[in-house]
Amino acid sequence: MSDNIPQFEVLPQHIGFIMDGNGRWAKERGLERSAGHKEGAKVFRRIGEYCADVGIKYLTFYAFSTENWNRPKKEVLALMNLFKEYLREGDTRTGENTIRQMRLRFIGEREGLPKDLLKLIEKAERETAHYEKMTVNIALNYGGRAEITHAVKDIAQMVKDGKMDVSDITEQTICDNIYTAGQPDPDIIVRPSGEYRLSNFLPWQSAYSEFWFSNVLWPDFTEEHVNEILRDYQKRNRRFGGV
Ligand code: FPP
Repeated sequence: MSDNIPQFEVLPQHIGFIMDGNGRWAKERGLERSAGHKEGAKVFRRIGEYCADVGIKYLTFYAFSTENWNRPKKEVLALMNLFKEYLREGDTRTGENTIRQMRLRFIGEREGLPKDLLKLIEKAERETAHYEKMTVNIALNYGGRAEITHAVKDIAQMVKDGKMDVSDITEQTICDNIYTAGQPDPDIIVRPSGEYRLSNFLPWQSAYSEFWFSNVLWPDFTEEHVNEILRDYQKRNRRFGGV
């Protein structure tokens, strides 16, 4: 555990991170884009561990969207390799993994992912399923609209099969049929790199989320930024439509 963990009166239960700005970070240094992702992966680990130390219970990181397949082949391959590397390192049998004590969940479409990555994902989910301190969702091959579309299809199928009635469908039915079923919605969504949009990240779950934007590029994101977010969060007056 890091020293000097500040105490906060109100802690968000769930933080979502859009890890943006890796490409620009690399470009500024005359490096290939993949070097930015590699640095971003280190930050992902560090921030995950720091949030665990602070006491946050759920994190969701946007690692690869359904649209990211349109990037150059070389960049996609580098990203897939980064995910595999991380999961191999996280092998719970080595006892040296950085993801121990965290329940790892992958949200997004499984179809289309390389077979070897899929195997590592299933293994990591299996081996970390019993950890209760923190849940880390990695959004991989994720698209929020696709997630809602899947939920709608599943619910329609249940109705067709006579397992439920149309009049039984509530907002909770949708919540129960999306990837994050059983988890609290993100209290705050963090987007660095000077962009001010959600980019299909958790559109259903973020209905009442707070937002935190910054010009910092993800590879430059530090623990101090997390502290800044948490200090800022103390001042947010969340009314959920009330007064
Ligand atoms: C967006 O920045 C970032 C991505 C598409 C990839 C994010 C993935 C990681 C940081 C790796 C995480 C690692 C693990 C193990 C989960 P961008 O490349 O679009 O940045 P730009 O807007 O500056 O080009």
